[in-house]
Formats: sequence, structure tokens, C-alpha cells
Amino acid sequence: MSWQIAIDGPAASGKSTVAKAIARDLGFEYLDTGAMYRAVALKATRLGVNLEEEDSYKFLDSTTIDFIDSHIYLDGEDVSEAIRNQEMSNKASFVSKFGYVRKVLVAMQQKLASSKNIVMDGRDIGTVVLPNANLKIFLVADVVVRAERRLKERFEKTGESISLEETIEELKARDLQDSTRAISPLRQAEDAVYLDTSKLSVNEVIQEITNLVFKRGYSMENLEQKNVNVEETEVEETPVEEAKAETANEETAKEEALEEVVAEVANEALEEASEEVKKYKEMQLVKGVVVEVQEAQPARKVGQKEIKAKEERVLIELEDGQEGYLFRKDTADIQDDEDLFDLFVEGDEIEVVIKKIFPDGGKFIFSTALVAKRNELLAFENTIKERPILTAKVIKQVSDFGLLMKYEDFTCLLPTQLTATPKEEFASLIGKELEVVPVRVDLSRIRIIVSEIHATMKKQRAAKKEFLSKVEVGQVYDGVVKNIESYGAFVELGEGVEGLLHISEVDHNRIAKIEKVLNTGDTVKVQVIKVEKDHIGLSRKALLPNHWANYFDGKELGDVVSGKVIEINKAGVRVDLATEIEGFIPKSEFSWERDLVLEDAVKVGDELSGKLIEIAQSKRRVILSIKQLSANPWETVAVAEGDVIEVTIAAVQEEGFKVTYNGLNGYMSKGTVKSRDPQSIQVGETIKVKVRVFNASKQRFIVSMRDAEEKVEKENFNKYMKSQDKMSNTFGDYISNLKK
Ligand code: DC
Repeated sequence: MSWQIAIDGPAASGKSTVAKAIARDLGFEYLDTGAMYRAVALKATRLGVNLEEEDSYKFLDSTTIDFIDSHIYLDGEDVSEAIRNQEMSNKASFVSKFGYVRKVLVAMQQKLASSKNIVMDGRDIGTVVLPNANLKIFLVADVVVRAERRLKERFEKTGESISLEETIEELKARDLQDSTRAISPLRQAEDAVYLDTSKLSVNEVIQEITNLVFKRGYSMENLEQKNVNVEETEVEETPVEEAKAETANEETAKEEALEEVVAEVANEALEEASEEVKKYKEMQLVKGVVVEVQEAQPARKVGQKEIKAKEERVLIELEDGQEGYLFRKDTADIQDDEDLFDLFVEGDEIEVVIKKIFPDGGKFIFSTALVAKRNELLAFENTIKERPILTAKVIKQVSDFGLLMKYEDFTCLLPTQLTATPKEEFASLIGKELEVVPVRVDLSRIRIIVSEIHATMKKQRAAKKEFLSKVEVGQVYDGVVKNIESYGAFVELGEGVEGLLHISEVDHNRIAKIEKVLNTGDTVKVQVIKVEKDHIGLSRKALLPNHWANYFDGKELGDVVSGKVIEINKAGVRVDLATEIEGFIPKSEFSWERDLVLEDAVKVGDELSGKLIEIAQSKRRVILSIKQLSANPWETVAVAEGDVIEVTIAAVQEEGFKVTYNGLNGYMSKGTVKSRDPQSIQVGETIKVKVRVFNASKQRFIVSMRDAEEKVEKENFNKYMKSQDKMSNTFGDYISNLKK
């Protein structure tokens, strides 16, 4: 028989947190039905269908939703993160009002739940999806408390904070929408337990529900019992049989004794089983009157007939006239030197437990020892309230139903659901001692129902508490990653104690996804950075060298740093400055020249120096500028059109030369080279030129060699003319003078 727990309630009442924890503690499966409505909303949004039309949701006919390892897959795609945002939350509530959507999802949910132990949370689980759930919880909390929880959760996940008032309004609107829709609105099932968590911690809520589960263990066990009785009548257990199992020898001895009694009474069968007999149950406490105390009789022979020996016994008649015997060995408080005659007198009113019914013979075997045991059990109930951990010994397996155990003089039953060992391994437990917690007494069988899971949980809680009490800020642990959420990883430090390693504490470098650095099951060295009640904040980066801080210690904007070029791309140049520190020189910051071709100016592996012009730790951005190392020559170099200056040949091009002048780059066409063969002009040579064009704003700087030569000639001519006193001097004279 599977066990189902239905948890319904308004948004942010803590359903999923609690449901997940209970599923984990009890080994049940967990199904988040809200996530399914969110997935539908996501698909509808992606398909761009009209959300208002019920027919739009026909796509569900060919949609698959699966849950694997706490992740939800929509048509095979893991959408666990994509559905966790405000938009999908609102849309899920909207799409959930359509009958068709509900019909399809409820069918899927029922299928997923069939024949499994499951915890399901949602809005209509107790009322519609699992109407026969073994336990239904209606989880509520004050809207302000819920809003605070939602805010905290949102802040932890996304760092986003909105006002409390806004959140309260949002939740109220959602509650209204979910509880007023026409089909399966949010409502408490009649048989649901109402649990207000406003003033309870998560752990208290989990504990409360777990207790309810075990209290309901009664009906659970009855269900099992029915099955066992119908299908496996041979495992009918009675305390007599249980008791006989104490030790192997004792067992055989008692078994033989019992057989004798059975045979004896059966031989004495008085009449056929009557309806009256059938209404009694073994282990039932009944009232009767002592009719006669019969003496023991030795075996004897009457004529040819052997008459067997008879034990002493008390014949007791019940109120309705049914009769049965109480034998010495079932009699409480009888001393070795006493006979039954010493204890019972005809006419005594007496309380007995029916130890055995022989339906065919219509006779009972009574026990007062069991009455005493029953009373001891009742007294034990007080102990049970304290839920102590007891050590009990496994006596035998009762088919699939559980294990029979012995604690002191008590018989205990450990139902299969409450063991910590798989059923298949039960045989190996026989004779072993287990730690268990008594859950309740079962008077109908005079035994104690015990739980190993409870004991394990209790031990874990104690260990956890102990561990928690020792955790201090600054401690370093080798933890194991248990679970990864978008906002952080839960790391187990020990004894079931987990801390949160927030995504911002994983590395000094910003990481987009934790999975890039850590995976579930990984061992990770972490430092405790916060302890608040049972919330432990962890940091991994605190233990890692902080390359950033080390590098920038003592550096500031404007400082000059250098590094090796690792990549040249369209936008600029990436340089490696130090371990895990990269700088970027945007193309525009490379040089004051506007149409610089980066590839011509630099190559991978070059060592470059630049000025720090931006340091943004959060974005791990370091921007350098080379051009800002020197003043802008276009603004500072004094050049005017017509000037004759000396430029250096920087490069020979097809049609001309690239020239430089005090940091300015200019151009000289080969056509302006008159007095020399342009081929003879070498890179690095200094040449006198005249500035033809100089436009700083357009970064245009063109020079000419010929113009310079002509200018010089003209100036020389003018000088010459000035040096002659006679006006008769001609240009011809000047030339012939030059030739002299
Ligand atoms: O629990 P949640 O916030 O993830 O659920 C999103 C919406 O889905 C909720 O506002 C109503 C709807 N829903 C529903 O109608 N029935 C369910 N069993 C679960 C959720």
C-alpha cells in the first residue's frame, strides 16, 4: 500500500520547503504541482498562444512534463529555472483556471502518484488530486509573514528587493485568484489538518507534520493488516507466538507446550463455533466469572481407554455464557508454591485477556498474565510520550509487514515503512539489536509499535544540534555539495548540517552559474562567514587567493601597467596583466590616430603598457589606454600649412610614404618627390617637406617634398635679389651665379 501526503495552501505558506523536507526525511517522492502549472504557462508563452482562450491549451495533448532528480522537464528540456520568476508565477495562476488545463494536469499528477509513497503540494491536492490521501495538511500563514518569507527568498535568489506592501498586495491578489476560480479552487479539504505556520519555524512545521504521519501510522498499519490477513493468513501473530521466540530453546519448549494445550482443548471440543464466539478477538480484554477451579489429573487408564494427564485450570464464563480456560502458565503473579486454588474462588469476577480462540471448538484460552502485560503497556504510554531511543532485538520477520522485536519484556513491531533497512535485507537483521523509538502501544495485540526512522531522525537531530552548537564564524570545513539552486549551493558540513554557499561567495570572479564551478557531490573547502540560528553562511572565495585585490593593492586609476597581448579583435586588444587579471585596450584608446589598423600596430605576444582608465571589480573590467600616455599630437604639435618641416619616413606605401612628425602621422605622395628617385627614399630617413594640408579635427596632414624644394629655391632667389644693388640683375644671372 502506498502512502500519500497532500499539502495545500496559499502561495508562500511554505508548502514546498516543508513538503521537500518531509519527502527527504521519510524517503517519499515529492511532486511540486505548482511547477507543472508554471511549465504550462511557460510553454503557452513561448508558443505565443492567446492565454485567454481555453482552446489555446490543446498543445497539452502533445506535451510531456517529467520530474527527474528534483528538476522539471518540459518536453525534455530542463525548465526548473525558467519557470521560477514572477511572470511565470502570475501566469501559472492564470492558466490554472482553465478546466482543460486542470483536467490534463490532474490526470498526470494522479498517474505520477500511483503506487508510490508521495508528498504532493499544490492547491487542490487534498480536494481533487488525492482525495484518499492518508494525510492532508492545509498550510497557512499570515499574509505579512508570507510576504516577508517571499521577499527574503526573492532577495536570496535574485538580489532583488521590492517593498513589503507590494508583496502583500501581490500575494493577496494571488490568493483571491486561486481561491475564487470556478474549477477546483484553493480550499481546505474537510479531512485536512489546518496548520498555521505564522509563528512556527520550518523545523517545527516539519516535526509537526512528521508526528502526524506517525500518528496516522495507525490507519496505515490497519491497511497493511487487512492485506496481511487476506493474503497471508499464515502470518497471523499472537503474543503467545511472539513470546515463544525469545530464544531458540525456549521457543521449542513453549511451542511444544502450546501444541499440547491446543490439542487438549481441541479434543475437548464442546460444540461448533457459534456466532457469539466470532464476535470476540484474540487479545481482547473481557470480564468473566470463575465457574470452577479444576485440579490437575494424572494420566490414567479407564478400562481399555487411555486418559491423558490434565493440567490444573480455571473454567471461566464470560458475560454472554461463552466459556474458556485459564491455565497456570498464563496466570499472573502465581508463585511456585501456589496452586490455582489459592488464587481463584468460584464466583470471583475476573478480567482476562483472550489469548486464543478456537472457533471450531468454541473455546477460549484466557490469560491474566496478558492483563498484567496490558497494564504495563498502558503505563508505558507515558514513556512513549518522551520518545526515548530504545535498543530492541529483532526476533523475526513478519513477511513484508515488518519485524517483530523484543524490548525488555515487551513485544514490539517495527513496520516495514518505519525501518531504515530495505525489506530485502530484513533476514540479516534477525538476532541484531536496533535503536528504535516507541511510537504508540497497540493494545489490540499487546505490543509496542516502534520506529527506526524516528530513532534515526532523532539521532540525526541531536547530532545536528550538537554540530550546530560548535559551528563558529571563521571555521573551515571540507563540505559536500548536496544541492544546487540558482542562487547558491547547499553544502553539508557534517551530521546533516548544511550551510548556504551563496553564488557571490563561490569565487572572487563573478560566475553566472554555479555548475560551472561546482557540482552535486563535490567536496569543497568552505569557511563559515555567518551563523544565525541554524542558518549558516559559507564562503569558498574567502579561502582562495584574491588575485584582484593583490594586483590592485596600491594601484589606482591613472597608473601605468603592462601586460602581454593575448588577443586582438575588432573591438580592441586583450592583455594578460597578472594571474586571473585581464586588461582591455579598446581600439579607440590604442592611438590618437583614428583609422589605425590594429593588426598593423600590434601582434599577439607583444608587451604593451597602458594607463588604467577603468577598474570595475564587480564586472572584472580593467580598461587601459595607450594613447593617453602621451598628449594628443593633433592638439599640441604646432604645424601650419605652408611650414617647411623635417618629417621621418615611417613606411613606404604604393603611391607614397607614411611620415611622422612629433607623433603626428602624415602622408607624402611619391608624385611630390622631384629632386630624387622615390625608390631611393628609405624608412627612417629625415626629409624636408612643406605642409600642404593640416586639419587637426579631421586628422589630415599632407606634406610635399617638391613644395619644400621650390619654397627653398624661391627664398634663396629672394635672398639673392636682395643682396644685389643693381636692378639689372635677372633670374638668368641668378642661375649662372648658382652654377659658378
Ligand atoms: O505553488 P506555485 O506558486 O508554484 O503555483 C503556481 C500557480 O499554479 C498557483 O498560483 C495556482 C496554480 N496551481 C493550481 O492551481 N493547482 C495546483 N495544484 C498547484 C498550483
